[in-house]
Amino acid sequence: MENALNLDTVRLADNKKEIVILDQTLLPNQCKYLSIKEAGDIWEAIYSLRVRGAPAIGVTGGYAYYVLADQIETEDKQEFIKKCTEMMEYINSSRPTAVNLSWALNRMHDVMLNEIHNMSISQLKVRLMEEADAIRQEDIQISRNIGEYGFKLLDELGKGVGIMTHCNAGTLATAKYGTALAPMYIALEHGWDPKNDMHVYCDETRPLLQGARLSAYEMQAAGIDTYVQCDNMASYTMKEGKVGIIFVGCDRVAANGDFANKIGTSGVAIIAKHYGIPFYVCAPSSTIDMTLESGDEIHIEQRKGEEVTEMWYEERMAPEGVGVVNPAFDVTDHSLVTGIITEKGIAYAPFKESFEAMGIKPVEKYVDKK
Ligand code: MRU
Repeated sequence: MENALNLDTVRLADNKKEIVILDQTLLPNQCKYLSIKEAGDIWEAIYSLRVRGAPAIGVTGGYAYYVLADQIETEDKQEFIKKCTEMMEYINSSRPTAVNLSWALNRMHDVMLNEIHNMSISQLKVRLMEEADAIRQEDIQISRNIGEYGFKLLDELGKGVGIMTHCNAGTLATAKYGTALAPMYIALEHGWDPKNDMHVYCDETRPLLQGARLSAYEMQAAGIDTYVQCDNMASYTMKEGKVGIIFVGCDRVAANGDFANKIGTSGVAIIAKHYGIPFYVCAPSSTIDMTLESGDEIHIEQRKGEEVTEMWYEERMAPEGVGVVNPAFDVTDHSLVTGIITEKGIAYAPFKESFEAMGIKPVEKYVDKK
């Protein structure tokens, strides 16, 4: 089993014309890379979760902007701006909840608008490639920092700690290390014994099984003592006293600390509060959307019902024609959150003040306007 840290979730191809992504829909059974460069294929790869996880979608957004801008054949700067704007709106429409996609597209667009009058279109294309590479490199460093802060919490709890996580916020969801799984990778670097010093409980994460297929794969491939549990078993494991801390990722955090993450996260937080288990959210600061006052303003992606009724089964497991509820994310109330681990430090309530003290501000948006 390949150590997931050796897998590139998303990168620019050596020919600098295509994006190479690891097709996560095939994991854990197959490790297959796809090279894509058409707008429709990039849109489909994000929508279908071939590449997924908020930071990885952001990195893909940066490369998508560059690769598609590179294909625009014009020397007319107004025409170039118009085509870039249309292209970024299209890519942004693939998934609405994770802020990282629009964040990366907005950052690329900002560079384009700031530089277009200082250089030729061909020079600008090189500049855009550098910016997209910078987003990827920064993501690796951000994830490492989150991992270091998270590891300090593990260290305080002591060796032998049980850790619960939901969905996949590991290296596969980022350029490297992950957010919620980064503390475990960092613990290994600090010499923790993977079999005895930590025990990781991965919620299966219905309906798309990111916990079973991806988190369990990553943790097991790293040699860590790992358990998969159906989502409705989380309460049992907590009551048994097996869980010392919970780390989850997030797709968008509002200024007050409410946050959206994979469907089922808010239930885990409610149960954790009941049993007095510390519940931490791991969030690159780019995931904190200071333009939203509370989680009520977060747009929740709704996905097709077949993911619940048919996918993974040999035959349908619900009657034809039945209604299906399939929100991809839920919003957890900030009152259930112990702390939000960012690359700049750990934010505590009141979260807005804590974010502001870290220098996190609202960002200019060209897409993702409300
Ligand atoms: O639908 P997905 O698989 O993209 O959802 C992913 C999650 O909810 C992750 O927890 C989140 O994006 C954080 S990834 C570091």
